[in-house]
Amino acid sequence: MTKQDELKQLVGQEAVKFIEDGMIVGLGTGSTVKFMVDALGKRVADEQLSIVGVPTSQRTKEQAAGLGIPTKGLDEVDHIDLTIDGADQIDKNFQGIKGGGAAHLWEKIVAINSTKNMWIVDKSKMVDQLGSFPLPLEVIPYGSQQLFKRLEKQGFNPVFRMKNNNYVTTDSNNYLIDLHLHKIDNPKELALTLDQMTGIVEHGLFLNIVNTVIVGEDDGPKVLQA
Ligand code: A5P
Repeated sequence: MTKQDELKQLVGQEAVKFIEDGMIVGLGTGSTVKFMVDALGKRVADEQLSIVGVPTSQRTKEQAAGLGIPTKGLDEVDHIDLTIDGADQIDKNFQGIKGGGAAHLWEKIVAINSTKNMWIVDKSKMVDQLGSFPLPLEVIPYGSQQLFKRLEKQGFNPVFRMKNNNYVTTDSNNYLIDLHLHKIDNPKELALTLDQMTGIVEHGLFLNIVNTVIVGEDDGPKVLQA
């Protein structure tokens, strides 16, 4: 296991300590969350912990099922106590970029329906300013070439996310466009601009959403309150 994976595993293990018996827990997506779900599966098996997970992707749903973690869809629960998710970048004001794993639409829907949100990251994700990680957009395939041209005209440096010459598609069968912005001076203003562009289903700016961040540092996980 790489050093970075070790940090991800440690924050995943730390995060599940916040899960209490009887909770409904949003389960994020990504390589860090994968470690958290492994640790949660162990708690469910060892302690007969009774929880319900609400997965934010098919991937996480399948992993949870394989570990015997009961899951429900978002519309089958009346609340979510805590969602634990990864992030691609977090700035000093606890604003984040998500979607590097193509799951930010479901992640944001689950997040805004959660009483509390926790992000778990290795130290490389903590930045002074957002933007060096390309900002993901989930877009409707219909008309997406036209949308792409509009994004280009605005100077957003869009790039369709491709794999083996095919468009990467999300769990909602949409495409992804990553904006190579290098730095985002005003995340709120950019979010408003993108919210207003027809064809964009959701962007990866997660503003004023997280309550707690667990950062994997060399000397162990650090819990930060936003
Ligand atoms: C999924 O689309 C993302 O929002 C992930 O939560 C984010 O990319 C973090 O993933 P890693 O833990 O794999 O870096």
